Amino acid sequence: MSKNLAAWEKAKREGRKMAMVTAYDYPFARMADEAGLDAVLVGDSLGMMVAGHADTLPVSLAQMEYHTQIVAKGVTRALVMADLPFGSFEESQAQAFAAAARLLKAGADIVKLEGGLPMVETVAYLSARAIPVCAHIGLTPQHVRQFGGFKKQGKTPEAAARLIEAALALEAAGARMVLMEAIPAELAADITERLDVPTIGIGAGPGTDGQVLVIHDVLGLNMDRAPGFARRYMEGAALVREALSAYATDVRDVKFPA
Ligand code: KIV
Repeated sequence: MSKNLAAWEKAKREGRKMAMVTAYDYPFARMADEAGLDAVLVGDSLGMMVAGHADTLPVSLAQMEYHTQIVAKGVTRALVMADLPFGSFEESQAQAFAAAARLLKAGADIVKLEGGLPMVETVAYLSARAIPVCAHIGLTPQHVRQFGGFKKQGKTPEAAARLIEAALALEAAGARMVLMEAIPAELAADITERLDVPTIGIGAGPGTDGQVLVIHDVLGLNMDRAPGFARRYMEGAALVREALSAYATDVRDVKFPA
């Protein structure tokens, strides 16, 4: 068992909150690790944050494999979680195993896959074959076309009950973590209470065992619209523009090179 996965399980038992951010490359993974983050997520959000796509659907398994390799190089301590991208795991359990194995070989400690009840058998298949799995439920961005946008989930009593059922079934199937995105805070807290495995929330209130945010949102590097639930801890894009503009001015004024 990954020592880092064990750390998350211990933290849940002891009631300690855990912090996670996405990372897509070596320098940011290394900074996150050195800053003491408990996990980094090689999220398929790299399709938006790094590649400039409108959503995560164009991201390929080869791209996730590459980014997992370069993130893992920067991490010595934190848990490395990697996303199975859209189209790499839904067709069959064998397809899911082949894709997940590639991400583990690239350096992931655990893979994350999106989907609730329809993914229970796949989670059981992977879990029985040495693949630790985090199940992502609620607003699953790979279903954006089906949802008709990035919309909050689990708002009606029926939808909430389906999410509770899915979380319990995914845990019973072997999921080692459950990530909940954009669902009501009370529902996320209720699911966290019911589960023995650690939960991670994003836009799901303070009641989950851990929190994850997209690193570009945390650092003010997301130049498109950041989700309302995110919190910016620095104005990264403004600082980068300022530094680059100072460099360009120095070159033009023949102040660099000295
Ligand atoms: O890809 C990603 O960054 C994610 C987070 C939004 C949880 O899945």
